[in-house]
Amino acid sequence: MPSTYIPGRSAEDVAQAYGISLDHVIKLGSNENALGPSPRAVEAIKQHINEISVYPSPGYVELKDAIARYTGVSAERVIVGNGSDDLLNTLLRSIIVPGDQAIIPIPTYSYYEIIVEAVHGTCVYVKRADDFSIDVDAVIEAITDRTKLIFICAPNNPTGNAIKKEALRRLLRSTEALVVLDEAYAEFASQSHIELVSHFDNLMVSRTFSKAFGLAGLRLGYAVVAEGLARSYERLMLAFSVNQLAVKGGIAALSDRGFLDKTVSMVAQGRKYLRDKLPFRTYPTEANFVFVDTAPHTSREVSEYLLSKGMIVRSCETFRGCSNTHIRITVGQPWQNAMLIGAINEFVSTT
Ligand SMILES: Cc1ncc(COP(=O)(O)O)c(C=O)c1O
Repeated sequence: MPSTYIPGRSAEDVAQAYGISLDHVIKLGSNENALGPSPRAVEAIKQHINEISVYPSPGYVELKDAIARYTGVSAERVIVGNGSDDLLNTLLRSIIVPGDQAIIPIPTYSYYEIIVEAVHGTCVYVKRADDFSIDVDAVIEAITDRTKLIFICAPNNPTGNAIKKEALRRLLRSTEALVVLDEAYAEFASQSHIELVSHFDNLMVSRTFSKAFGLAGLRLGYAVVAEGLARSYERLMLAFSVNQLAVKGGIAALSDRGFLDKTVSMVAQGRKYLRDKLPFRTYPTEANFVFVDTAPHTSREVSEYLLSKGMIVRSCETFRGCSNTHIRITVGQPWQNAMLIGAINEFVSTT
């Protein structure tokens, strides 16, 4: 049976199911930005709203230049997509033929297995260590002559841990397969590995505007790759898959340093607060969420209780390699974090 992607629940769905007014739903299940969108992005979108009657300019030169400045790599290496999911989906079609293999260290973001299966590739799962670090030797051992891709999510969704540069270098040196480093949460991490793209042609680093910039609904993602791969991606990409408002909003968001700093600092304080206050085992995190082991309670019991109070968190039992006691909580604004802790304490004291 092909895997299906199960997204976090929407606020509308929960409000309706539990008879709660929409304004009272607290959404901490999809790792969005609790501060909302970058105000500069909103301003730019308003300013350019009338441009939606024309197609975006081909090649996305202005957007790629802004991303190149932000990431410190050359614009020729930058590719853009309608969210990083769309970008990966398109790129895989140029890389995988039926029977090819992709190595996926689990637990991790479930979308990888879905897109590999969609192009009739085979997923080879390698279990992460107990602290969820990647066992690089085990990944290297799993490489065969059919291996075309290796997915590394860092910081990893849902566990929150990053990868050490030396481990990544060792992996990159050991294979010709394309290593896809998903840095969707890079802005919250202590370091990024994007500069390695200039040293390794088999590295692709993907990023998104959905998290730190608060633009999940706008749909904009990018990746940095070797120039040859960038050109083959562009031959496959739909000509206008990134819309004009995403172009303008994205460029403005990249210049919104104040919003980015505010977001990163709210997340750093919030994840410390949550880890200090949660009455369960939590794991170190470099992302905008905290991975929690709710034992002796199941993740479903905890998340259902929270839903009944209008709080959405992510129960992780559908992530391959997670147990039925794992939940993922997005860091919210301080008042949201405090309400969540209150509700979880209430759950613990009544069960
Ligand atoms: C690791 C990871 N990569 C990619 C994405 C999706 O990014 P986008 O919204 O750009 O498609 C997510 C979203 O949750 C994610 O967790």
